[in-house]
Amino acid sequence: MGTKIKRAVSLYFSPLDTTRRVVHSVAQGLDAPESLELDRTSFDSRWQGVELGEGDVAVIGMPVYYGRVPKILVEFFRYIQAKDIPAVVVVAYGNRDYEDALLELYNESRKHGFNPVAAGAFVGQHSFTDKLGTGRPNAEDLADAYMLGQKALEILEKADSPAGFELKVKGNFPYTPGSDLPIAPVTDKEKCVGCMQCQKNCPVLAINPLDPGDVDGWRCLDCGKCIAECKAGAKSLAQPALREKIAIMEAMFTAPKQSELFY
Ligand SMILES: Cc1cc2nc3c(=O)[nH]c(=O)nc-3n(C[C@H](O)[C@H](O)[C@H](O)COP(=O)(O)O)c2cc1C
Ligand code: SF4
Ligand code: SF4
Repeated sequence: MGTKIKRAVSLYFSPLDTTRRVVHSVAQGLDAPESLELDRTSFDSRWQGVELGEGDVAVIGMPVYYGRVPKILVEFFRYIQAKDIPAVVVVAYGNRDYEDALLELYNESRKHGFNPVAAGAFVGQHSFTDKLGTGRPNAEDLADAYMLGQKALEILEKADSPAGFELKVKGNFPYTPGSDLPIAPVTDKEKCVGCMQCQKNCPVLAINPLDPGDVDGWRCLDCGKCIAECKAGAKSLAQPALREKIAIMEAMFTAPKQSELFY
């Protein structure tokens, strides 16, 4: 019997691109004749409605923020119609730990009509510093991700139905509380040239369109996208307390972690 895969659907949030790269490698491993890209990183993208159906297999990916997934889950899944769609669920984390993020994404995917057959946690360069997870995902990580896609393909080819899978992934419920601090990148007004690239690319519209230095710390996810987009180098996480915490992490999590796969 077996479930035939017609289309690999890449569904992800990835401000700094590491999650997207992992998701794409998993999707390649599915060997599907067609593909669909659902990049839910920009604010506008999360208002687009999509209906998934028979033959679709989704690869759902998010970065790890403070041991959880980013607080955009409601909008991430909003307007995606899915019923018993097989899926592979992945998280990318910066070589510290992913705590409950994979379990959270797994549970939320199930609530939204997906049926995860495989899951994985992968290291990506840390959004706060290039000293953690430097250059990750590397070729080995992406090969692991591809292999996870192949495993999912193998499982689906053997399955009588695309529904009814149960996975045991790492993580605990109740989840770790994550962070609720109103931290946001700071802006050096001397360097800012007013191009508004930061504001246009912020995934949650936390930057004031009339003043790029005015960031709503409660909305901000600390995702780092505005820092990456600012070619003038005006945005940074320069707060001394934060730099101190990052320095401690840099010293603690030097040993490279490996991909963890569940199927
Ligand atoms: C706000 C924030 C919190 C983070 N928390 C963690 C964490 O708890 N553990 C960890 O190992 N990495 C953490 N990271 C690093 C990201 O998970 C990692 O860099 C990820 O690959 C970024 O994905 P992206 O490139 O798709 O944006 C955090 C990054 C950000 C921006
Ligand atoms: S303001 Fe915050 S949420 Fe918006 S791009 Fe910058 S770090 Fe990300
Ligand atoms: S991207 Fe940089 S230079 Fe452009 S408005 Fe934002 S802070 Fe200013």
